[in-house]
Amino acid sequence: TKKAFIFDLDGVIVDTARYHFLAWQKIANELHIDFTLEHNELLKGVSRVRSLDIILELGKVKASQEDKNRWLIQKNEEYLTYLVDMDQSELLPGVLTMLHYLKEKNQPIALGSASKNARPILEKTGIRHYFDAIVDGNDVTNAKPDPEVFLIAAKLVDVSPENAIVFEDSVAGVQAANIGKMTSIGIGEESILYEAKYIFKDFTHIEKGFIENLISK
Ligand code: BG6
Ligand code: MG
Repeated sequence: TKKAFIFDLDGVIVDTARYHFLAWQKIANELHIDFTLEHNELLKGVSRVRSLDIILELGKVKASQEDKNRWLIQKNEEYLTYLVDMDQSELLPGVLTMLHYLKEKNQPIALGSASKNARPILEKTGIRHYFDAIVDGNDVTNAKPDPEVFLIAAKLVDVSPENAIVFEDSVAGVQAANIGKMTSIGIGEESILYEAKYIFKDFTHIEKGFIENLISK
């Protein structure tokens, strides 16, 4: 059967999870909110607007919509400064090999990201042409763990959810794939991503035989 391979972006293709964290931390610091790497796991895969709400909840800070809008702009401006010099060297280990391999095997490849900055990142890292479909934060109304982003991606490449395979580094994203009845593959720590059907530390740990198996199922 025809499969589709759907990639999350931040933390799966590029190490931008770190940049999101640094940008949020700057806002949190200004608001005197304690915001650690552990808290950051709650934000992975989550939309920009929801992320700010989570941080404000952590600090029990109540804010006007005007303030929130200002911080959202400030966060994104800070985040964008990290993307200025981005190039292919920032792709995470094994990503390019995996994309190349899937293309060689004629497998549909899609992006399923919550980020509104996804397209420029694909351009800067020179991998835009690998993707048959791109669905990002500009295209969805429901944030992960809602499966909307992945369902649209699967539909665009004409594959049923059951035949879609999702690479994710976030708990919310793994849950979204599971709720969408897709095969979830966690990229990262087992202690965090244990809800995923399969977990690998990074793409270099995924053997070709494993992918071949998925394709032939
Ligand atoms: C997700 C990230 O991919 O995109 C989140 O994991 C981020 O950390 C979200 O908040 C939204 O991204 P952006 O670029 O639209 O602020
Ligand atoms: Mg991610």
